[in-house]
Amino acid sequence: MARPKIALIGAGQIGGTLAHLAAMKELGDVVLFDIAEGTPQGKALDIAESGPAEGFDAALKGTNDYADIAGADVCIVTAGVPRKPGMSRDDLLGINLKVMKSVGEGIAKHAPDAFVICITNPLDAMVWALQKFSGLPAAKVCGMAGVLDSARFRHFLSLEFDVSMKDVTAFVLGGHGDTMVPLTRYSTVAGIPLPDLVKMGWTTQDRLDAIVQRTRDGGAEIVGLLKTGSAFYAPATAAIEMAEAYLKDQKRVLPCAAHVDGAYGLKGTYVGVPTVIGAGGIEKVIDIKLDKDEQAMMDKSIEAVKGLVEACKGIDNSLN
Ligand code: APR
Repeated sequence: MARPKIALIGAGQIGGTLAHLAAMKELGDVVLFDIAEGTPQGKALDIAESGPAEGFDAALKGTNDYADIAGADVCIVTAGVPRKPGMSRDDLLGINLKVMKSVGEGIAKHAPDAFVICITNPLDAMVWALQKFSGLPAAKVCGMAGVLDSARFRHFLSLEFDVSMKDVTAFVLGGHGDTMVPLTRYSTVAGIPLPDLVKMGWTTQDRLDAIVQRTRDGGAEIVGLLKTGSAFYAPATAAIEMAEAYLKDQKRVLPCAAHVDGAYGLKGTYVGVPTVIGAGGIEKVIDIKLDKDEQAMMDKSIEAVKGLVEACKGIDNSLN
């Protein structure tokens, strides 16, 4: 049986890391596509040359021609520009919307059966636009945000409690932005919910609130340190987890930016929700019951996403 084909649209910081991870995990053969000439070819060759020492079997190809993504099983999209210090993800909207149009058309023409994972920011609006531009089924187009946001939350919690990250689970819903909704009630250490850990004296409510805020600002913290771009190791790792869930039909329960139609009272909105990812793509959106405060945070987040979607419609008439 032929190896799966993974197309990476955008061969920048995240794209290169995705290629390296996909090859090392032997998820399939990798095609790196970019408009920059030489970049995808150079990264593909460099990673391929790491193969003999690492011992993986995966073919890598760099290209500037969409025809080379033909028949891809998975497309992971990072094409576009990242933010610089002082910029919000929303500041990227105008430039990256145009990029989504060309990427959507390229995927529709050459890889219409792929499972598409968008990483380009502002995430929720870009994945919405990418689904529209590509015309692919909504269950096959999603965005990576929740896995990354919850990984950041889990990391900070493991530091706070001095326990293994493996035993910390966390839930982050809503848009991938300042209004994201980390749900403490559904976040646990080995099944013990965070509010119980506060009662047990493991931490205080104030410290927990500070960790929630640090999670919301997690992307900006990295941008502030790097100064020349945004995070790439953790975003790439999160997207690979989603791609693997699809390729291996793992039925993983992962939060991601999915097309929500019915759940949470939404009608066709892309926003971060818990999902089941398997061979069918986004096989299920899990409609968890939120309490009043959580619902209010979620509503605020959804409004922020809707504002960005409206801004996209204002820029590109074909999206109306
Ligand atoms: N088609 C294909 N590739 C494109 C296009 C396009 N129309 N426009 C830009 N690119 C490529 C650039 O040439 C660059 O190599 O996208 C790549 C982006 O890489 P980086 O600038 O290194 O950005 P990266 O850190 O990988 O982030 C990419 O993901 O997390 C988000 O906010 C981030 O939107 C940004 C995206």
